[in-house]
Amino acid sequence: MTEWLRVGAPALEPAWFEEVRQVLASGWLGTGPRVAAFEQAFADHRSVPVERVVATQSCSAALMLALQVAGIGPGDQVLVPAYTFAAAVNAVHLVGAEPVPVDSVAGGVVMDADHAAALIGPRTRAIMVLHVGGAAAPIAAFAAIAARHGLTLIEDCAHALETRSAGTLVGRQHFSCFSFHATKTLACGNGGMLVTPTAAEAATARRRANHGVAQEAWQRRLTGPPADYCVLSTGFKLRMSDVEAAIGLPQWPGIEARRGARAQIWQRYRAALAHLPITLPVADAGHAHYLFSIQLPPEIDRATVLDQLSAAHIGAGVHYRALTDQPGLQDCFGWRAQTTPIATAAGRATLSLPLNARMGEADVARVAAALTRGIDVAATA
Ligand SMILES: Cc1ncc(COP(=O)(O)O)c(C=O)c1O
Repeated sequence: MTEWLRVGAPALEPAWFEEVRQVLASGWLGTGPRVAAFEQAFADHRSVPVERVVATQSCSAALMLALQVAGIGPGDQVLVPAYTFAAAVNAVHLVGAEPVPVDSVAGGVVMDADHAAALIGPRTRAIMVLHVGGAAAPIAAFAAIAARHGLTLIEDCAHALETRSAGTLVGRQHFSCFSFHATKTLACGNGGMLVTPTAAEAATARRRANHGVAQEAWQRRLTGPPADYCVLSTGFKLRMSDVEAAIGLPQWPGIEARRGARAQIWQRYRAALAHLPITLPVADAGHAHYLFSIQLPPEIDRATVLDQLSAAHIGAGVHYRALTDQPGLQDCFGWRAQTTPIATAAGRATLSLPLNARMGEADVARVAAALTRGIDVAATA
């Protein structure tokens, strides 16, 4: 049977499995020394002090923690990109605040800073910005707006582990949330990281991510059995485990090589798809090359193309149908697709092709052939 090509398949080496075996043999599967080592590896990669980073179960958890640590709750509004995953809006909803969707820039998918500024009102407390697909968002513009209005800035770096802006990795200054989910470029199954502006905020986040307990069990164990404990605040269980950290730890040294491999696939795609009536993504030197998302022309039915790709065992994705175009979120928040017309139109036309470091030239040719056929079928349907 033809092998499936998938969006964001992890590139794991069998030699790395030993790290996980050691954790299983150690008898300590919860948050512990492997998580501490994972935080250190992340801090070293980004050149941020380890005191400002907190490993979490997911990026979703990190987004929620960032909002909590920033003191955002009931009565507050948070600006979120309309063009993103549901994690953003759910994190805001879970802390009791109200998400306000912001449209994308004309002709693009990144959040529009002018629209964000126009939506700021007396209850606005924070702006969440996404680096879509690994392309750096114009964070300086959002930081200026946030500073002018006294708002917290949260960078959603779920796609941006390797993204650089003006040569520097993004997500180092403001609250920044990363994902190590199964499909990400460093994949732990589940996992995330919160970077906070100060060490004090990270200490608060660490406590809140452990049900408000003053010290984590593995640290209490260093001085004896982890028995008595003190709850200093409310919180929730949001920390990464040593098993997840062990899956991720051996992946750090190769992240730039894998980014290079994805950049090559990206260029091959651009050459192989140039003949099609679609809009191809563009990447600057700082792009993480996480998603290769094309835009179909309005006359081409996306569902037909997706079906054709599926029939050829090509696992394409949709990143993203706009939040305002999602029925459950419309019901909950009263949004309509036309609340953010640019993000809605882009979300209905987008389609992401498989992109991972293990792909080769033949895989690109296979995807290009299937996409060409899919577009032909859709055009004649
Ligand atoms: C843009 C964006 N933000 C946040 C998340 C949430 O990440 P996680 O699955 O680690 O919670 C995702 C997940 O894919 C995402 O795509």
